[in-house]
Amino acid sequence: MSRKKFVAGNWKMNTTSAGAKALASGVRDQLAGFDRADVALCPPFPYLSLVADAVRGTAIAVGAQNVFPEPQGAFTGEVNAEMLLDVGCRYVIVGHSERRTIIGEKDELINRKVRHAIQHGLHVIFCIGETLEQREANQTESVLDNQLTWGLREVPKDQVDRLIIAYEPVWAIGTGRNATAQQAQQAHVFIRWRFSQIYDNDSAQRLVIQYGGSVKPENAAELMSQPDVDGALVGGASLKADSFVAIVRAAAG
Ligand code: 13P
Repeated sequence: MSRKKFVAGNWKMNTTSAGAKALASGVRDQLAGFDRADVALCPPFPYLSLVADAVRGTAIAVGAQNVFPEPQGAFTGEVNAEMLLDVGCRYVIVGHSERRTIIGEKDELINRKVRHAIQHGLHVIFCIGETLEQREANQTESVLDNQLTWGLREVPKDQVDRLIIAYEPVWAIGTGRNATAQQAQQAHVFIRWRFSQIYDNDSAQRLVIQYGGSVKPENAAELMSQPDVDGALVGGASLKADSFVAIVRAAAG
């Protein structure tokens, strides 16, 4: 089955309002009329509206980097799914390893975020991946299994079409050391198989699985030529329009 590739830029805690506007406009202009891959930009919260304005009327979508799983109320500093939809988001990233390790998010909170976001109609880019230590101890599959099992708990089958999985091996994030195409393919096959167990084969065949971790214009085509690598979640290389657009074009083959 052929799945449309999906490339998203995770800007993390970078840019300024002027920089965000310039980056979003640059990507928009270079991708004018392009529709051979799905594309999303995920800026920091304060710049969501201006990025949404910059790409309005194009096929480029906007995503947030976090969400809090409660309706409005006394949750100082937090932002819920309705607010993200209100400012033009289609996607939200949940379960990123930086939030798991630096902020200390646990599987239970991550699962609440996935359910909250999906229920409200956001598309969730759910990130999973093993550390180097876990890979070297041959625990990659058990770690992915655990993160999937926990993260997807009680996510109803009729909502899983709003789910994207990003396989991001922690050792490849921001290190310049990407997984090889074979390592990525192998992990993606496992993820798809596990997803088919949790849901069913049809949903698993439709599932878009991105690879993330030191994706660059130089390695993007090879990674995404793998049959189960359906796109990329790009950090550092998404901060320049030229390199991000080169990755998007590589996705289209
Ligand atoms: P880098 O592309 O900078 O390695 O970051 C990957 C990532 O964490 C995307 O979410």
